[in-house]
Amino acid sequence: MKIITNPTQPEIKKAAKALKDGHLVAFPTETVYGLGADATNTKAVSRIYSVKGRPTGHPLIVHVSSINLLHQWAVDIPEYAIDLAKEFWPGPITLILKRSELAQNFITGDQDNVGIRVPDHPVALALLDEFEKLEGFGIAAPSANKYGAVSPTTGEAVEEELGRFLQIKDLILDDGLCKVGVESSIIDCTNDYPIVLRPGAITNEMIEKITRRKIPLVLEKSTVKASGLLESHYSPEAKVVIGKIAAPGEGFIALANIPTPTGVIRLASPNNVDEYARVFYEALRLGDHRGLKKIIVFQPEGDGLAIAIRDRLGKASSGNLAL
Ligand code: TXA
Ligand code: MG
Repeated sequence: MKIITNPTQPEIKKAAKALKDGHLVAFPTETVYGLGADATNTKAVSRIYSVKGRPTGHPLIVHVSSINLLHQWAVDIPEYAIDLAKEFWPGPITLILKRSELAQNFITGDQDNVGIRVPDHPVALALLDEFEKLEGFGIAAPSANKYGAVSPTTGEAVEEELGRFLQIKDLILDDGLCKVGVESSIIDCTNDYPIVLRPGAITNEMIEKITRRKIPLVLEKSTVKASGLLESHYSPEAKVVIGKIAAPGEGFIALANIPTPTGVIRLASPNNVDEYARVFYEALRLGDHRGLKKIIVFQPEGDGLAIAIRDRLGKASSGNLAL
């Protein structure tokens, strides 16, 4: 495995060729780093599962360079989904749509639908562009972490998570910290109205405005399965507790306006919710690097990305609450 920091255009071109040849390439997106494989190559995709230790049958998101490739992967696309794609791509939103024949069972987890996204990151877009020039159709990429662990938001975190499981011709493209920091919003567009499967930077309000449809509040309405919906996910080694009090020796994550209690190990002091999302996963990792047993997290309040942070926090903590 080779790590390429701040990849140049020729290096990105080589990475696209590596993908086309069936190797894995981890790459940055605006949300988190993805572990990429040619989405039409069953052998390459099966390596994603073994490297991540992810149970088979969990579907993967297919990344493409633009909305123009949407119709290659999906059929019977509702008008409101096209509106979402036009408005927010490239960007942190994944659309679940009825699949075309190109999206085979090894991508969709045997479901009749497929997740598609155009990421908003110059390296990801250049990689997709070069890959498509080689007649590739799309890059399947889950977050580049071990199954159930914290998503990586830096190249180092990818190496730490997966480096030892990658093969000699696999690559990691490192471009520093991801600007959003939590995974894309996932929207099930297989019904007459959108259903949010995973909250992210594109909020319900933004989706309702563009689609002119109400999002139903009850999640059970969706019949699609998503592994990020499992109760426990996004977890570091340390026990994560949603709390209001931290004791000496414990890790602590809270907005900057909240003072650090005596003896507590501060892992992050973001100034606002956007910064909170950007540094949150790195702060959890830092807790593990420091060998902490417990990390107390004060959750951010309000809407927008705060909803996505509370969602991930709920899963990272498996509901551990300290009042
Ligand atoms: O921001 C992101 O979405 C990142 C970057 C790399 O693009 N990717 C990502 O992938 O978070 P992953 O596999 O770690 O999480 C995607 C979630 C999983 O829970 C998966 O089960 C769900 O999306 N998913 C993917 N395709 C699906 C489909 N066809 N139907 C339902 N859920 C799907
Ligand atoms: Mg993931």
